[in-house]
Amino acid sequence: MLFCTLWVLFYILGFYTVSGASCGCSSLVIPVHVDVLVPKDPTEEFAGLKSNASSLRRVDDTYDIFGVFCRPDTVSLGASVVQLLVHGFTYTNQYWSPPVEEFRNYSYAAFSCERGFPSLAVDWLGVGLSTRPKNSSDVQFPTASAALSQVALHLKTAPIVPGVPPFKKVIGIGHSAGSNLLNFNAIVDGPRSIFDGLILTGSLSSPPGTAPSLSVTPARDDTPLRWGNLDPGYVTLSNRSLFYPADTTAFSPRMIEFDGFTKDVGTVGIASQTPIITLTTQYTGPVVKIVGSEDQLFCAVDRCVNITAMTASERVGWPAARSFEVVVEQGNGHDMNLDFAAQGPFNTFVSFVNQFSGF
Ligand SMILES: *[C@@H]1O[C@H](CO)[C@@H](O)[C@H](O)[C@H]1NC(C)=O
Ligand SMILES: *[C@@H]1O[C@H](CO)[C@@H](O)[C@H](O)[C@H]1NC(C)=O
Ligand SMILES: *[C@@H]1O[C@H](CO)[C@@H](O)[C@H](O)[C@H]1NC(C)=O
Ligand SMILES: *[C@@H]1O[C@H](CO)[C@@H](O)[C@H](O)[C@H]1NC(C)=O
Ligand SMILES: *[C@@H]1O[C@H](CO)[C@@H](O)[C@H](O)[C@H]1NC(C)=O
Repeated sequence: MLFCTLWVLFYILGFYTVSGASCGCSSLVIPVHVDVLVPKDPTEEFAGLKSNASSLRRVDDTYDIFGVFCRPDTVSLGASVVQLLVHGFTYTNQYWSPPVEEFRNYSYAAFSCERGFPSLAVDWLGVGLSTRPKNSSDVQFPTASAALSQVALHLKTAPIVPGVPPFKKVIGIGHSAGSNLLNFNAIVDGPRSIFDGLILTGSLSSPPGTAPSLSVTPARDDTPLRWGNLDPGYVTLSNRSLFYPADTTAFSPRMIEFDGFTKDVGTVGIASQTPIITLTTQYTGPVVKIVGSEDQLFCAVDRCVNITAMTASERVGWPAARSFEVVVEQGNGHDMNLDFAAQGPFNTFVSFVNQFSGF
């Protein structure tokens, strides 16, 4: 009970994280219709893209996608552009505005809003306050990714809140597996993609080699009080230390506590289908990949030192991209937004949003 109360408290506080003098935020729900083919076996690593018809099944359903929308109070240059913020595995929209340390420093939603850019931070399908399908095998790359592109379509075609006209451009900003969902969408939609630019953080396609792997636990075993009734294909991560730099002075101990309280679920499907990011996409918009130099998942054994070599190998999957860059943020871990040095990546994200918006 105490645990649930704390969780709700953190959640509610989250809504106010970025409501400073110059920004206003509201939570909302967007209904989306998804009609896609998924592998019958959710552990199929290429999410059905390499499967024959007999090993696929159709998911045709309508889901509610929860999000927190923030916008500057004054009309600005960025008013016709919106950022769609997509959290990583076992996180929620709160990754983009964690209410830690008196709400300063860690909110990219607030940081970018203060610089004139609205954002919508969503919860994935199956996660947080979005619809959680009873059967976890409905939450795979094709469904979760299609839900995101439907949200982006909504942002371009309808007022997200009364009085806000539809946006002309949507820039997708992902973290970790959230970047992979945007990547999957770029593979499926290619030049027809609804996204006008992609900022993919905490995700590299080349095999991590000696990097340690994360071990998932059925969520119902991890936290029976909260997740006891979920099917075992809904999973979570108990130990989150690999998401932070090995140097524990680089982040706040309170952030780790917050992370533990607010962690959420993912599915076996999403956890298994990461290899899709090694496939080629014909996406034509501008793309940047951003990783932290201290990312224990991707940058072990000096892998993120030679940026020329990294750019060459990451670029292979994006032959049609209008521009392609790789940026390494010095000192940041995998969850680059949650370190003391979060402002470094935040400045980088905003400068790419400016560039991709044509400002
Ligand atoms: C389709 O794929 C399944 C699983 O990979 C395989 O067992 C089956 O033989 C394939 N069927 C055809 C017609 O290729
Ligand atoms: C906020 O960031 C500044 C500059 O990066 C840093 O000096 C300060 O310690 C941080 N404050 C908190 C409470 O994390
Ligand atoms: C989930 O759906 C799949 C595909 O329809 C089915 O094979 C599986 O038995 C279902 N699992 C549960 C727990 O209902
Ligand atoms: C979490 O994992 C790290 C290594 O990945 C380990 O050093 C640490 O002791 C683990 N923490 C707990 C509480 O098990
Ligand atoms: C970085 O990688 C490039 C391309 O693989 C290579 O030509 C260059 O020598 C490398 N630079 C260093 C300092 O290792």
